[in-house]
Amino acid sequence: MTLEQLQTIKQAALEALAQAKDEATFRAWENTYLGRKSEFNTLLRGVKELSPEERKVVGSTGNAIKQELIQAAEAAQSRMASSTGQSAADAIDVTLPGTGTGAGHLHPITQIEHEIEDIFTSMGFGVADGPEVESEWYNFDALNFPLDHPARDMQDAFWLADMWGKKKYLPRTHTSSVQVRYMERHKPPFRIIIPGRIFRNEATDASHEHTFHQFECLVVGDDVSVANFKSVAETFFTAFFKRETVVRLRPSFFPFTEPSFEFDVNCLLCDGRGCPVCKNTGWLEIGGAGMVHQHVFEAAGYKRNQYQGFAWGFGLTRLAMMKYKISDIRLLMSGDLRFIRQF
Ligand code: PHE
Repeated sequence: MTLEQLQTIKQAALEALAQAKDEATFRAWENTYLGRKSEFNTLLRGVKELSPEERKVVGSTGNAIKQELIQAAEAAQSRMASSTGQSAADAIDVTLPGTGTGAGHLHPITQIEHEIEDIFTSMGFGVADGPEVESEWYNFDALNFPLDHPARDMQDAFWLADMWGKKKYLPRTHTSSVQVRYMERHKPPFRIIIPGRIFRNEATDASHEHTFHQFECLVVGDDVSVANFKSVAETFFTAFFKRETVVRLRPSFFPFTEPSFEFDVNCLLCDGRGCPVCKNTGWLEIGGAGMVHQHVFEAAGYKRNQYQGFAWGFGLTRLAMMKYKISDIRLLMSGDLRFIRQF
């Protein structure tokens, strides 16, 4: 073994190391040059055969070269780690077409809700809100539902298990539950809408759902009248359906309004001539309305006969179904993305 042989191996090792760009070639290099059975180690072991003088020189040079190679190997390893950590083969090709980020969008009900809010705020209305779990007081008692009156059965409620002592709570059955909450904190005159989610203990079918959305309108002042209601409703529906819309009132009953009405709008499809959608009546049923009962004002702490106001409420869900021609209400809350993505 000679010093030249050692230098040749060192040269070859360093050159090969410079080519090692990934983990696999680096490991192969290690085996060839530093491994126990490598040519280099075999040479080093041959030192024993040399004369004592030669052994000294060649041995120490051999060891120095070994250290040098170990250091070079460490440097190469950290160089690889600090680069992308990927070989050229699986580096990112920026010229490939991208994958979409798949941004979501608002639920059709939320879209309708925003549309309604835009129309009403442009008419000077405020938007109010209340809790979805409500006390019996705000949902029924304060709205003049007598304790044992069948009116409470008009809206089959889910009652919550009795966990807060004597007071009874329920997922609200209508957005009217926010009326007294709002009036307790505000002095007339005011005009607001209250959009929200409500819950009823109903058997579900294509037109009945246990969870749906309503919106309430409440206008209170010194001399608010039925004529004001009709005009606000017609202005709103004309803006919402983007066509001249007329409102028709029919006598009805709600404990919290007196007088009470059901109200209809002229059928959008046949323009009042009669078609299957309006069952040939020319009118579409929309919701309930009426002049706020004085008992409700009293429950809110107002003096009897001091104010007059109207309230109306209807299914926002129903409006969305009419607008998008959705035939089954259960689709809306089903969580089926194939349905939702169409809007
Ligand atoms: N809260 C009633 C319902 O859910 C609708 C209504 C609201 C009626 C306001 C009159 C006034 O059926």
